[in-house]
Amino acid sequence: MDNNERKKIVFSGVQPSGSISLGNYIGALRNWVDMQDIYNCLYCVVDMHAITVRQDPKKLREQTLSLLALYIACGLDPVKNIMYIQSHVPQHAELSWILNCYTMFGELSRMTQFKDKSAKHADNVNAGLFDYPVLMAADILLYKTDLVPIGHDQKQHLELARNVAERFNGVHGNTFTVPEPFIPKVGGRIMSLADPEKKMSKSDENPNAIVLLLDKPEDIMKKFKRAVTDSEAVVEYREGKAGINNLMTIYSIATGKTMDEIANEFAGRGYGDFKVAVGESVVEMLRPIREKTEELLKSPDYLESIYKENALRASVLAERTMEKVRKKVGFVKK
Ligand code: TRP
Repeated sequence: MDNNERKKIVFSGVQPSGSISLGNYIGALRNWVDMQDIYNCLYCVVDMHAITVRQDPKKLREQTLSLLALYIACGLDPVKNIMYIQSHVPQHAELSWILNCYTMFGELSRMTQFKDKSAKHADNVNAGLFDYPVLMAADILLYKTDLVPIGHDQKQHLELARNVAERFNGVHGNTFTVPEPFIPKVGGRIMSLADPEKKMSKSDENPNAIVLLLDKPEDIMKKFKRAVTDSEAVVEYREGKAGINNLMTIYSIATGKTMDEIANEFAGRGYGDFKVAVGESVVEMLRPIREKTEELLKSPDYLESIYKENALRASVLAERTMEKVRKKVGFVKK
């Protein structure tokens, strides 16, 4: 076994259901960049998950390509990592069906994201929305994934994937690797600029709550200037100062400064100066990403070569797992 084969396998994905926020970048993509040198990583654009809520087809197509471009623009290397579009590797759907038969109705009924989303999309509580976590389990288990970088909101889904893997292994003998969550310590949670008690979510209806990776600099500045803080006028990281804590976290990530350094820098100055500084630091952090994404979207042929080649690499690995699984469940060999 060479070194490469012994590296742990990492799988993660983002839905192309809207634009990517600063929260996604800090909580997910930025950490993925660090992981690409240590692990064998698969980074997927999960378009099949996205259609569990109604999408405009034209927009979905654009957002899928834009997200792939963004992965590359953030510094993910499409040669080192396998970066592809979920629907291009049909084994995801195939395994998902099989795993459905090893997942209990009651388990899926307890998923808090399903409860939230079915309340939010009450007119479209489709079976796919209910089944979402099984497709996610299939994504992960197809590749013998060891580690899954996810946010807190996906912990319950990962736990389900582990249970399904163990159940299948219990019935058929060791087949799937049981994955571990990988939740980054720093900057795991970026909060809404409008309501800092809430996570920054790309589905927030208030555009001032979210900074999008492809926002124009003037819009980013506007959003930071309007960010909700408190009435103390002290830049200090402590309990009860959710708005300031969030801005300090963002500023610290964008500049590399510690919380103490930030507190000193703004001692005796008002929040106005601080918000401008945070806004400018984010504009500078995101500028190269936005420019690179725009450039990549102008080369659809290049993007196509990336997603085609990588889907092929992914399907070779996926097929290895599927051959085993089909045999274990008793399907006749094709
Ligand atoms: N459900 C994840 C989210 O919304 C996206 C996702 C789909 C995912 N499949 C995955 C994340 C597999 C990690 C691993 O954030």
